[in-house]
Amino acid sequence: MYKGQHLPEHVGIIMDGNGRWAKKRGLPRSAGHVAGASNFRTIAKYCSQIGIRYLTVYAFSTENWKRPQEEVKALMRLFRQYLEEALRDFTEENIRTRFIGDVSVFAPVLRDLIEQVEESSKNKTGMVLNIAMNYGGRAELTHAMRQLAQEVKHGSMQPDEIDEAAIERYLYTAGQPDPDLIIRPSGENRTSNFLLWQSAYSEYVIMDILWPDFTTEDLDHALEEFVKRNRRFGGI
Ligand code: FPP
Repeated sequence: MYKGQHLPEHVGIIMDGNGRWAKKRGLPRSAGHVAGASNFRTIAKYCSQIGIRYLTVYAFSTENWKRPQEEVKALMRLFRQYLEEALRDFTEENIRTRFIGDVSVFAPVLRDLIEQVEESSKNKTGMVLNIAMNYGGRAELTHAMRQLAQEVKHGSMQPDEIDEAAIERYLYTAGQPDPDLIIRPSGENRTSNFLLWQSAYSEYVIMDILWPDFTTEDLDHALEEFVKRNRRFGGI
């Protein structure tokens, strides 16, 4: 268990590599997602135990709808299963679960579960877990800009009052600190539209491990790597 002194307050994880993990084993891609979902539970609980205050995981992007229908369906089944479990078993965890992204497009049964999970965990005082579903950084910024345009249209704001703080008020993560550390397993070197605004000064740790194989020790290594970095936020 990570015993380092310095913990990032907010960690983001791009849970990548489920498909390759399955392929390596001659299994369907959906089997990789099942393994990935199980690992997500392990890692989320671990982050909460070691004292991470905010964890944001990328579960389904605005672009993931392009995948074969069968894979999308398998992911929706997994989300439903996870949410049902969260309602049943997650109650003793001191984790507040929130969903970021446009969840209005999901099936009513999934939307109900999302609401119930958010509602039932809203008074928890421990880690905040943001699950990004139908999330895209560009879509999030587009949404924020539309809201600001409405304010200007209704006269409750002047164009020159639009500043960074005003934009942040309309992000899904409003009121939360920006991620200090973003971990990307599976070795890909790109942001994939994850927390575009919020990650301006995040430290990225890219690891050559597929998500279902990513262990709590790997998380510890990412935290150790983060501590070594010298964050200057544009200063010297
Ligand atoms: C990326 O791997 C992973 C996804 C698009 C889905 C992430 C979902 C989970 C980890 C499981 C469900 C999560 C919850 C919250 C229950 P990929 O399929 O792109 O892998 P590849 O790059 O190897 O093809």
